[in-house]
Amino acid sequence: MSEPARQRKPDLSKGLDRAQKFGTILMPHEAEEPILAAGVRLAIYEWLTEIRSRGELEAVGLTPRSTALLYGPPGTGKTTLAHHLAARLGLPLVAVQSERLVGMHLGETGRNIAELFDGLADAEHGCVVLLDEIDGIGSTRSSDPQACAREMNMALTTLLTRVEAFRGMCIAATNRKESLDPALWRRFGMQISVDLPGGEERFAILKRYAVPFDFCDEDLDLITDITQGASPALLRQLMEGLKRALVLHPRLGLKIDDVAIVFRAITSAVAPHPDLPQPPLWKSFETHARKLREIPWPPARQPQKKGAA
Ligand SMILES: Nc1ncnc2c1ncn2[C@@H]1O[C@H](COP(=O)(O)OP(=O)(O)O)[C@@H](O)[C@H]1O
Ligand SMILES: [Mg+2]
Repeated sequence: MSEPARQRKPDLSKGLDRAQKFGTILMPHEAEEPILAAGVRLAIYEWLTEIRSRGELEAVGLTPRSTALLYGPPGTGKTTLAHHLAARLGLPLVAVQSERLVGMHLGETGRNIAELFDGLADAEHGCVVLLDEIDGIGSTRSSDPQACAREMNMALTTLLTRVEAFRGMCIAATNRKESLDPALWRRFGMQISVDLPGGEERFAILKRYAVPFDFCDEDLDLITDITQGASPALLRQLMEGLKRALVLHPRLGLKIDDVAIVFRAITSAVAPHPDLPQPPLWKSFETHARKLREIPWPPARQPQKKGAA
């Protein structure tokens, strides 16, 4: 006779396997800590403390919150943050691309949501679930607007019920908070704004992605000023573009001795998201090229650490 269900060990791998149909499993060791504004860092730190203080909270009639909604412009680190949070708890992140839950046929989206959460039932305490770009659920695919609205409502009802019933940790992320259903918004225990970085965070992000090239603080201050309004993702692209150019341009026979030309090549190839403000470096390149020429160029490269590949 088979073992009674309650004695069976939770089958984590099976749950995660099934979740792969709708997303990706991100392991803790692959996580990277995003550079965030102090307010967001504090909210995350408090949440982690809350999760780790279950006993003390239960003694005063509270349970740790298990759901949070991260909202903010694209490329500000919402997915990175969810991954980092899961890693801090030593758990894999099931990063569900919500769009993949959307089906073409009537009732299919709701069934997919149910399939996802059923699949995770055994793994709910062994992973963190991220419903990424959650606004994608209910996007219009049908040509009949009425059928589409009905389908969206059905899917939403299923989603609300499933998130409510889920006993593990569930994070949702969206770039489009204004399009979120109010009931869905309220379903999460916290709503955390992950906004475009301020000067201090831009400086830290530029510094992180400049490694192993030596930019002194003054140079980074200058780049921080002319990238006001840039998302962390764009700042990363900018710095990685610089590093790529510094390594590859000489190989391609291209000169790297003019800082403005190198920056120009990058700003021509990577642009801010159309919904986001144009940072000064993109808006009026020529004005800022003069300032860029104050940077000692090309930057020196830190010596490679022993044993590093
Ligand atoms: N706050 C941040 N600090 C450092 N790097 C970041 C940050 N936000 C985004 N990035 C980098 O930009 C890329 C896209 O970030 P992502 O987390 O996908 O943003 P979002 O989910 O908000 O659209 C990632 O490769 C990440 O390394
Ligand atoms: Mg994301």
